[in-house]
Amino acid sequence: MVRKYDFIVIGSGIAGMSFALKVAHKGKVAILSKTRLEEANTNLAQGGIASVTKDSDNFEKHIQDTLICGDGLCNEEVVRMVVENAPSQIDELVKWGVDFDKGDEGNFDLHKEGGHSDFRILHHKDATGAEIQKRLVRQIKKHPHIDVFENHFAVEIITQHHLGMLVKHTTPNIECYGAYVLNEKTRHVHTFLAKVTMMATGGIGSIYQSTTNPSIATGDGIAMVYRAKGLVSDMEFVQFHPTSFYNPNERPSFLITEAMRGYGAVLRTRKGRQFMHKYDERGSLAPRDIVARAIDSEMKLSGDDFVYLDVTHKSAEETKAHFPTIYQKCLSLGVDITKDYIPVVPAAHYLCGGIEVDVYSQSSIRNLYAAGECSRTGLHGANRLASNSLIEAVVYADKAATHALGRIEGVVFNEQVPEWNDEGTSLNEEMVLITQSAKEVGQIMSNYVGIVRSNLRLKRAMDRLEILYKETEDLFTRSVVTKDICELRNIINTAYLVIKMAMQRKKSRGLHYTLDYPDKIEL
Ligand code: FAD
Ligand code: SIN
Repeated sequence: MVRKYDFIVIGSGIAGMSFALKVAHKGKVAILSKTRLEEANTNLAQGGIASVTKDSDNFEKHIQDTLICGDGLCNEEVVRMVVENAPSQIDELVKWGVDFDKGDEGNFDLHKEGGHSDFRILHHKDATGAEIQKRLVRQIKKHPHIDVFENHFAVEIITQHHLGMLVKHTTPNIECYGAYVLNEKTRHVHTFLAKVTMMATGGIGSIYQSTTNPSIATGDGIAMVYRAKGLVSDMEFVQFHPTSFYNPNERPSFLITEAMRGYGAVLRTRKGRQFMHKYDERGSLAPRDIVARAIDSEMKLSGDDFVYLDVTHKSAEETKAHFPTIYQKCLSLGVDITKDYIPVVPAAHYLCGGIEVDVYSQSSIRNLYAAGECSRTGLHGANRLASNSLIEAVVYADKAATHALGRIEGVVFNEQVPEWNDEGTSLNEEMVLITQSAKEVGQIMSNYVGIVRSNLRLKRAMDRLEILYKETEDLFTRSVVTKDICELRNIINTAYLVIKMAMQRKKSRGLHYTLDYPDKIEL
């Protein structure tokens, strides 16, 4: 079946939904979600969203904090643009109903997180993402021009390749005509033709064994664009959040927000000794790459599986009021955070790289935009400043909307696109092969491409992945398309890009720390 939309939006997180809401007055919009609209990284965000909103703070400070954290690799023009546009996008979120906490005098109640020189994190208790997701979903569902397709999995974006042309990375003017989309319930692959396609598929945490991301984070958008010969970069900069609750049986790993360290919590070894001052004068509030590496190093020195986060010295009532979700969750796991230390470990959390976009959110493929975690804007450089992700997503969705609306009248549907062809394939009954391979990717990435890397570890990772790649491509060409086989393929493609780009960077920088070129960091 062929469906035609002015805009198709792949992904229902903050990036996809805010883009959809901003273009829907000018055309028909389809928003696709591979599970339910609510299931997205956005929904789990805790700490909040960074923006200058009080008189004693200023843009220059937020810009400098972002640049310092990015370790020399941020694009300063982009940093300035995002920081300066942040307050107006906060206003938009408030207009859509997002309820950021306020103090007694009616001003935003601002938190502080690692690497920020001031209190500038707007939040809704410790469940900011759930509040944003809920409000945006409500707006999307009531919009007359937006059709929602849940359990619809985007398999490939459509380009000249599907018209029979040989498309390479060097081919000029690659164009996107929409996407092939699997309806999980009917198992049919539909053709969604679009004038404009927005890729907003989120992160890649699922390529690691231990991650704070929900299972949807399989790098689909990045893999699709890479296969379509679009530009992807900075994939080596995978951010590990220093403090996820240590519970090896739980996936995703439950996050203990950095705002808790901003509130005064400190890290301790299992023996109760504070250690962060050995690594950085900012102590427990140093940027994430430094804290995660320090924890990794302490765990290696002691042989322990976790360290502790201690918030017991703060007022119990205040702690419960600020962090009700975390308090309840930890209590359910037998830890009363007002009395007990919290066992924590680093976990894969966020990807700084992704689909390359310009300041209008355009990818290297015509009529294809990308926003949110799947995109690489240049804001984060080698390491993202805490709470700069949600704001980047909403600022870039806005830039994309303005740009796309300005040019959509000149774009026509491509009527030559053929329907999906699955001749000669059959239903693959061996699910165990797929789940086993996905687990193996997680092990490879966590063992060899984690917080600390080396040439030898990366080579070993690539060699192991190569075997899985060949097996999976073979299986894919023989099988009827299913979400599981597509996700496995995307996980492998994404892992490949992380390893390849890590191998190419012959220097430790921000989140990419390698034993062979350790010059940058003294640990
Ligand atoms: P997502 O919100 O992940 O949405 C992706 C969407 O794409 C989903 O709807 C998914 O179903 C869909 N999708 C993916 N592939 C396909 C496909 N093939 N077909 C169809 N649909 C598809 N950042 C901050 O700034 N502040 C925070 O406090 C913060 N806390 C965080 C806490 C946690 C636990 C996590 C995991 C992340 C946190 N982050 C935070 C990061 C931030 O939440 C994410 O970077 C951001 O929400 C990403 O938004 P997004 O719209 O790009 O993607
Ligand atoms: C957190 O709450 O610690 C996560 C913030 C972020 O990832 O930006």
